[in-house]
Amino acid sequence: MEKLIIKGGTPLKGTVKISGAKNAAVAILPATILINGKCRIDNLPNISDIKLCLQILEYLGATVTYLSNNEVEIDSTNIDKTEVPFSMTKKFRASYYFIGSLLGRFGKAEVGFPGGCNIGSRPIDQHIKGFEAMGATVECEGGIVKTYTNENGLVGDNIYLDVVSVGATINIMLAAVFAQGTTIIENAAKEPHIVDLANFLNTMGANIKGAGTDVIKIAGVPNLNSGASYSIVPDQIEAGTFMIAAAASKGDVLITNCITTHLSPISAKLEEMGVTLEESDDGEQLRVFAQNRTTKANIKTLPYPGFPTDLQPQSAVLLSVSDGTSYLTEGVFDSRFQYTEELKRMGAKIRVEGKTAYIEGVEHLTGCSVTATDLRAGAALIIAGIIADGETEIHSIEHIDRGYEDFEEKFRALGADITRVTVEE
Ligand code: UD1
Repeated sequence: MEKLIIKGGTPLKGTVKISGAKNAAVAILPATILINGKCRIDNLPNISDIKLCLQILEYLGATVTYLSNNEVEIDSTNIDKTEVPFSMTKKFRASYYFIGSLLGRFGKAEVGFPGGCNIGSRPIDQHIKGFEAMGATVECEGGIVKTYTNENGLVGDNIYLDVVSVGATINIMLAAVFAQGTTIIENAAKEPHIVDLANFLNTMGANIKGAGTDVIKIAGVPNLNSGASYSIVPDQIEAGTFMIAAAASKGDVLITNCITTHLSPISAKLEEMGVTLEESDDGEQLRVFAQNRTTKANIKTLPYPGFPTDLQPQSAVLLSVSDGTSYLTEGVFDSRFQYTEELKRMGAKIRVEGKTAYIEGVEHLTGCSVTATDLRAGAALIIAGIIADGETEIHSIEHIDRGYEDFEEKFRALGADITRVTVEE
């Protein structure tokens, strides 16, 4: 087991390069199953969720060749299995994309239930509703989702999502690529990674229109091309995490390899709190500069283009040291405030009532021993450690390794005093 030790109090200064987007990559890798041939994927983040995705592809029969830390070649020609055991799927949320992609290519799949962050109930009823609307039978038993089609295969239909779901939108897109006729997803999610998946699939020969709006139309095609290359979009959440860290530490950070339009919901909130932002003309770099203590703000997380739920814990840290009392409301998940108990141990004044955290800003947080309860909570604790007085120890950091590439190295390059040490069990 490993833990992080952070000696706090240094403002972050320098340049940080953002990696490829985890949530795009974990959709695009399963999508390679639809390609009966080879493709190259570049700008892949080197994180544990990606390794798990690649292991599943290999398990299914694909050949995966690492061309560098961030680029792979995947040959899906010889995939001959349609089952993924629960022992592999339980380790991360995005494993559910293997249901849509296997169903799309083979007309059947048996995939274990997904795992991932414990942030409240995470049903997959909308994914199932979509598969069923296209004519698939879906049975959930013994921790396995089993789905299959009849002799007609999948047939496009109009699917109205009852909730805006990233996972359901992507899974239905994957299943629909070869479906007969046109599949229309209404009330679709609009996150940048949904657009990235559509761009990838269209590059490979799919016919998907409307990604990034709430109506996505997928006209079924008989097959996809092989031999193409694709580069994953920069990670909106990683960039947002560094923006918040820069503001919280009263630092001056240049964020490169980002797409500033994806960051607008975060930029708008930081500017409201008194942070200075400077965007490059090409929209690929953002300087975040904070000299003074930020002021209170009210934040509600919402589906894109709203404020991302995956930046909710990191924002709580910033609000904890901002001047005044802020409201932070979770608008996507049932419960995502487990980490506030850890922040309170560091001196934050937070009261959670239902979906809202009331945060009374304090002058300083104080380092202590804390535990990461999930991926984004772990990122929040690192920011808290960086701005706290004294030393912070963060345990259960395997959650953080699931989703951030070279995270502590990047913080160290910005001046943070952060070390990873092995803990004797
Ligand atoms: C994805 C992201 C996650 C992010 C979330 C919201 C990946 C791998 N994960 O998670 O990082 O926090 O989007 O931006 O991309 N819901 C249902 N029924 C369903 C599906 C979802 O009720 O069938 C509900 C969920 O309980 C939740 C809301 O819809 O309240 C949004 O969930 P969803 O967008 O599907 O999140 P995930 O795909 O799990």
